[in-house]
Amino acid sequence: MTQPSFRDTFAQDMPPMQAGPGPRTAKQLGDVVLRVRGLKKNFGDAVVLDGIDFEMRAGEVVGVIGPGGVGKSVFVKICCGLLEPDDGAIELLGQDLLAIDQKSKQRLRERVGLVFQNYALFDFMTVGENVAFPMVQRGTAKPDEILVKVQERLAEVDLPNVRHLMPNELSGGMKKRVGLARANINDPELIFFDDPTAGLDPVTSSKIFNLIRRTQAQRNSTCLVISHDIDRMRPACDRYVLLLDGRVHFRGTETDAMRSQDPIVQEFFRKGDGSKAGAA
Ligand SMILES: Nc1ncnc2c1ncn2[C@@H]1O[C@H](COP(=O)(O)OP(=O)(O)OP(=O)(O)O)[C@@H](O)[C@H]1O
Ligand SMILES: [Mg+2]
Repeated sequence: MTQPSFRDTFAQDMPPMQAGPGPRTAKQLGDVVLRVRGLKKNFGDAVVLDGIDFEMRAGEVVGVIGPGGVGKSVFVKICCGLLEPDDGAIELLGQDLLAIDQKSKQRLRERVGLVFQNYALFDFMTVGENVAFPMVQRGTAKPDEILVKVQERLAEVDLPNVRHLMPNELSGGMKKRVGLARANINDPELIFFDDPTAGLDPVTSSKIFNLIRRTQAQRNSTCLVISHDIDRMRPACDRYVLLLDGRVHFRGTETDAMRSQDPIVQEFFRKGDGSKAGAA
């Protein structure tokens, strides 16, 4: 008998919900999952990253903030292997990202989730197919296993009944949640969120940050969250890194930031939306 295709399985109704594997920690809490040293990136004459040192430990949620155009998205793209730096070293989940071959890099990427700054859902695929995509690409699970996982991940983001819809039938907040479900599909140890609430209203933004914290706690994952929305990201983040002029200008907890006498740090943390602070 031939194996049903992924698309055939997805066209059917859901099988009954099954218990998931539960939280998983490939790394012990506290182990370094990402270590960046002296990271540099130029585009032509424009110096974007000028020697970034950064570290994340398993189980942490770190907020990365900074003015628009400072290089936050570039930093994340380099850290997950989508863009090459000009200089520096990156240890991702214990491996030297810049030294490993393409195949190893691909395997490493499967352990990392990414929520893009725009929605980045495929508009020609259903929601369910979008969420399944990274797992289908990995090519190790059967269609019915994928379907069960998709159902679990969508339920986790409080969207149990949207699998058959197309992305253009969803609100902005729902699309962001689908992006979160997709980023979690392969049980990643580390997730990068690039501006997960861009363009959303304040109430929906708060819900997304609460959801990030909830899914992180359930899965014991490690998260890097880029945002301009310092007020609403607070419940999600353990500590922060502020990028300015290609460098780390501040690193610390919210308490450290509140005690800081640095006017730029004050502007970012006390006035809430620091997106224009420090901008030239
Ligand atoms: N592929 C590219 N080619 C040339 N320049 C680029 C490229 N990607 C980014 N840049 C430039 O690098 C700088 C940093 O961009 P980046 O998107 O990382 O900013 P950001 O901090 O994420 O901003 P925002 O908060 O608006 O999302 C910008 O000046 C941008 O124009
Ligand atoms: Mg960006």
